[in-house]
Amino acid sequence: MNDRTNLGDRITGHRRMRRNRKADWTRRLVQENRLTVDDLIWPIFIVPGTNIVQPIDAMPGVNRMSIDKAVEAVKEAADLGIPAIATFPNIDLSLRDETGSNSLAADNLINQATRAFKKAVPNIGVITDVALDPFTSHGHDGILRNGEIVNDETVEMISRAAVGQADAGADIIAPSEMMDGRIGAIRQALDAAGHQNVGIMAYATKFASGFYGPYREAIGTGGLLKGDKKTYYIDPANGTEAIRDAALDVEEGADMLMVKPGLPYLDICWRMKEAFGLPVFAYQVSGEYSQVKAAAANGWIDGEKVMLETLLAFKRAGCDGILSYFAIEVAKILAKGR
Ligand code: PBG
Repeated sequence: MNDRTNLGDRITGHRRMRRNRKADWTRRLVQENRLTVDDLIWPIFIVPGTNIVQPIDAMPGVNRMSIDKAVEAVKEAADLGIPAIATFPNIDLSLRDETGSNSLAADNLINQATRAFKKAVPNIGVITDVALDPFTSHGHDGILRNGEIVNDETVEMISRAAVGQADAGADIIAPSEMMDGRIGAIRQALDAAGHQNVGIMAYATKFASGFYGPYREAIGTGGLLKGDKKTYYIDPANGTEAIRDAALDVEEGADMLMVKPGLPYLDICWRMKEAFGLPVFAYQVSGEYSQVKAAAANGWIDGEKVMLETLLAFKRAGCDGILSYFAIEVAKILAKGR
């Protein structure tokens, strides 16, 4: 026995966490969570027209694409092994109205895009959102009457929109507008229309967050939105209420649950996974993406390292997958085997 051992043992009591960290091979051996391409869902923005690839100022590296260009991008995503995309339209201002009526048009931009993707890239899942915000002149997710976002009428409308999206070939309907009773109503409407195999990914806990800013630029609702969404999204202060809200979605038949935004709400991801055991996804939203990109562009952080760290954090928090604007970038890195 020498003095050094004595000193070390006195300090550590033989428990040395660093043994497992000492080399790359030990670290690989004990690594608990891994990010794979199978964890990724890629959100994309569609614009009308052809041959259009429009950079979004507030989201460096993300573009709005016309359907033809989006088809090429979605092919690339499928080739990289990304299991699914989530689509969001930026429709012409002239088509937006008080009730979001264009959401019901069988040939609206989002349904045209779905048809094109299912035809050209049949092996990638298409997830569509039924919230009305891309279709309303006021940028709210539901129908606005006398200053109120009316619940039941909105649920009726989005249930019909969901059937239209399923008719176009959508694989999963993802309602993001937080109306009460929507999951049950959409399930019923889908079943009645023969769409038993179309799933529902509930934006189960969507918070009234400041992180959605760049998205609103992407779909052109930023300048339109009057007021805020606090009467239908969840207060960022409330975790238990979020779990209660998700419980209703589970009861009403959701197949998958989503937490949105992502990183500031990892506690909710964990609690939801524990509470329900359903597949849980996090939406790493636009503001989260842009924060990383902005800091990296300034040289303040290593963008790639931070990107991978944020995505791994979702896995550690119990998520089965992540909706992320980083999806393509990450899939390319993972394909290189790093
Ligand atoms: C609204 C909707 C939002 C996002 C997707 N659908 C939030 C909002 O505009 O209030 C945000 C996505 C993102 O920030 O990446 N139904």
